[in-house]
Amino acid sequence: MAKKKVQTIFKCSNCGYTQPRWMGRCPECNEWNTLEECTIDKNANTPVFGGNGNFAVTKAKPIPLSKVDPMNGTRILTGISEFDRVLGGGAMKRSAILIGGEPGIGKSTLLLQTVATLTANGIKGHILYVSGEESASQIRARADRLNLNCNNIEILCTTRLEDVEDALNALNPIFTVIDSIQTMFSIEAGSVPATVNQLKYCAQQLISWIKERDAVMCMSAHITKEGSIAGPKSLEHMVDTVISFERNTDEIRFLRALKNRFGSIDELGLFAMGEKGLSIVEDPSTLFITRREGTIPAGIAIVPVFEGSRVFMVEIQALTVPAKASFTHVYSEKIDSSRVSRIAAVIEKRAGIKFSDQDIYINVAGGFKLTESAIDAGLAAALYSARTNIALNAKIAVVGEISLAGEIRPVTKLKQRVKAAQILGFETVVCPDTGSHCTKVQNIKELVKQIF
Ligand code: TYD
Ligand code: MG
Repeated sequence: MAKKKVQTIFKCSNCGYTQPRWMGRCPECNEWNTLEECTIDKNANTPVFGGNGNFAVTKAKPIPLSKVDPMNGTRILTGISEFDRVLGGGAMKRSAILIGGEPGIGKSTLLLQTVATLTANGIKGHILYVSGEESASQIRARADRLNLNCNNIEILCTTRLEDVEDALNALNPIFTVIDSIQTMFSIEAGSVPATVNQLKYCAQQLISWIKERDAVMCMSAHITKEGSIAGPKSLEHMVDTVISFERNTDEIRFLRALKNRFGSIDELGLFAMGEKGLSIVEDPSTLFITRREGTIPAGIAIVPVFEGSRVFMVEIQALTVPAKASFTHVYSEKIDSSRVSRIAAVIEKRAGIKFSDQDIYINVAGGFKLTESAIDAGLAAALYSARTNIALNAKIAVVGEISLAGEIRPVTKLKQRVKAAQILGFETVVCPDTGSHCTKVQNIKELVKQIF
């Protein structure tokens, strides 16, 4: 019997997931009514979508892996150290980077500063900045206000994808900015702008172009109220790197990778937005401690935490008040409330301080989210201090994981944490190990005895 060449599949228009039968709800992204029927001809050179939303247009053949060029040293350093850090040591050539963030967060500013830094550092090749949102004179005015070097930056203000493709083919730029991908439009993808199809088609055309070139493309994207990139989820699958630009405080901005094919997603980039645009934060390790003269109030403990490869000193604030209702509540956004309840229960059982009739409020200065288990001991110190109204010594930092039995357990990279605290003037770190600038504690009782 002849082999069947044409196959019918159902593909989700949101996330690109494919499966053989129709369903009302996509099992991958849980969106309703997004599975659409499509046929694929196994032998044709027409686009065949894979599960990740990418497609192959030509038949491919296997080659020996040992003969493949490993593309060593094919990153472009943007020259903006915090951006390079989040990218995993610069932008990989042949890659597409998506930078998502709410309007006004500073995406256009970051991208303009990036291309200006590239030219200032003498990058060889053209740089193309495509804007579908601002006029050329607005961009020039911004560049002048920020004292940026505009030499060798080609600017193209359009929303027509075909104009962008012409410019790409004419200039063959080494670095291209698309600001933003959501403004791009092609008649090939239907006559209605800003549809899911438009977005996917335009992104796919641009990504296909960059995949064939030793160059980098950065696309900005708006995010929805819920915080995800506006448009289909498959847009995130199509690009190599997804970076989120977030507001921390009014001035401080966080840059973090949500996905990175060429690096870790643990690194955090920090910027301050000021009159001269985005700048590097001078002393980031103390950014999350409120600076005070003399003593610190009760309920506060300082913890050395790791974020990517850097240590930050972070202030945990606790407040306990008698419960207003017959049941108690933990109000904690920056530290998981189940962790707070667990540590409070351990103190109650092992150190004899009652929390079970108290409402607990926990905050972290600077709006930092803490997920490391190494914060347990600091959290315990803040809770104990809040409940007893006895303040910690301002020169003490605390770190350690706490078991349900009340033991203080070792944490990763303790030496680096202690070193960071020492540099910033902390006299000792209460922790589960001995060493210079360390005060060893083995359980919660010893911790209380040493600190209070
Ligand atoms: P922008 O880069 O246009 O944001 P996005 O592209 O993400 O929408 O940034 C606009 C905001 O940044 C605007 O609120 C003004 C502020 N800003 C400054 O505070 N200082 C500056 O030097 C610049 C250029 C912008
Ligand atoms: Mg913008």
